[in-house]
Amino acid sequence: MAKEPARVLVTGAAGQIGYALVPMIARGVMLGPDQPVILHMLDIPPAAEALNGVKMELVDAAFPLLKGVVATTDVVEACTGVNIAVMVGGFPRKEGMERKDVMSKNVSIYKSQASALEKHAAANCKVLVVANPANTNALILKEFAPSIPEKNITCLTRLDHNRALGQISERLNVQVSDVKNVIIWGNHSSTQYPDVNHATVKTPAGEKPVRELVKDDAWLNAEFITTVQQRGAAIIKARKLSSALSAASSACDHIHDWVLGTPEGTWVSMGVYSDGSYNVPAGLIYSFPVTCQNGEWKIVQAFMDDYNCFMASFCDSGLSIDEFSRKKLDLTADELSEEKALAYSCLT
Ligand code: NAD
Ligand code: LMR
Repeated sequence: MAKEPARVLVTGAAGQIGYALVPMIARGVMLGPDQPVILHMLDIPPAAEALNGVKMELVDAAFPLLKGVVATTDVVEACTGVNIAVMVGGFPRKEGMERKDVMSKNVSIYKSQASALEKHAAANCKVLVVANPANTNALILKEFAPSIPEKNITCLTRLDHNRALGQISERLNVQVSDVKNVIIWGNHSSTQYPDVNHATVKTPAGEKPVRELVKDDAWLNAEFITTVQQRGAAIIKARKLSSALSAASSACDHIHDWVLGTPEGTWVSMGVYSDGSYNVPAGLIYSFPVTCQNGEWKIVQAFMDDYNCFMASFCDSGLSIDEFSRKKLDLTADELSEEKALAYSCLT
C-alpha cells in the first residue's frame, strides 16, 4: 500500500541551499524512493516572488513523489502539520567572518520560529537546524520550544563529517564509500574536532584503520584537521558564496539516516543535545558520533570489537579519547558555552 505523504518544511527555501535541497527532497533522496512528500517552503516577504518561482519549477519538474507544495511567508502556515523541519532560513557569513558573527541576526529567528514549530508541527516532528551558528541556533530553538522533546532537535555537522570522509578518500585514493567512522566532535565552527582515531577503510584484506593506511600522523593531526575545520571558509573564498550543494546533500544524509537508520557497524556525526557523554557539559548541542535505529539516534558509547571492549574497561566510558583529543573536545565545548551566553545576550 502507498505510504501517506510526509510533510517536510524547508525554511529559507528561496535561498541557495533551499534551491539545491527542495529538488533532492522531491526526488526521494531524503526519505527514500517510496516515500511521497508534501513540501512546505517558508521565506520572508522580500523573497516571496523568488519563492513562488521555486514552486513553479517544482511543478515543472513533475516529480512523481511530490504530492503538494506550500510556498508561504506565514510561519504558522509553513509549520502546520510538518513531520520534518529543515531550518535553513537565516543569513550566511561572508568572507573573513566566523559563523558566530551572524549570531545576532540569526538567533532571534530561531527563538521566534521555535514557538510556531512547538504549536503547529506534527507530534514527534524531527528538526534539523542548518543555519549558522547551527549548534547555538538549535539550542535556542530547543530552549524556546520546551514541549518538543530534546531528542528531536539536532543540527547539521554531517557536512563536516562528509568533508572528512572526502579528505581521507582523496589522500588514500580510495572510494569515499569505503571510508567510515570518522567523527566530528563539537561545534560546526573552526573549533570542531575532526577525529580519525576510530575510522577505517574497507580494503581487499579487510577493514584497516585510517591511521595505519595514511602512515602520516603529522598530516592527520594538523593539516587534515585544519582543512576540514576551514573548508566552509575555503568554499566562500572560491565561490564568493557559502557551500550549498554539499550542504543540501548532507542535510538529506542527516535526515535519511536519522529516519531510516545507519548501516550496521557505522556511525555518523550529528549535533545533538548533550547528556554529559564523554564529559561534554550537558545542555549544549554538540556533535557526537551517533547510530540511528527506528527513527532515534544514540550516542556511540561502546567499542565495537573484542580488543576494544577490553580496552574500554580502562576508560571512563565509550570510545577511547587520548590526551590530544580530550583537549580538542574541551576547546570546542568551551566555545559552545561562550556562544550560548552570547546568544542569550543577543536575545535580551
Ligand atoms: P541564502 O542567503 O542564500 O538563503 C537564506 C534564505 O533564508 C534567504 O532566502 C532568506 O530570505 C531566508 N530567510 C531569512 N530570514 C528568514 C526567516 N526569518 N524565515 C525564513 N527564511 C528566512 O543563504 P544559504 O547559503 O542558503 O545559507 C543559509 C544558512 O545556512 C546560512 O546561515 C549559512 O551560513 C548556513 N549553512 C550552514 C551549513 C552547515 O553545515 N550547518 C552549511 C552551509 C550553510
Ligand atoms: C559551511 O560549513 O560551508 C557553512 O557553515 C557555511 C560557512 O559559513 O562556512
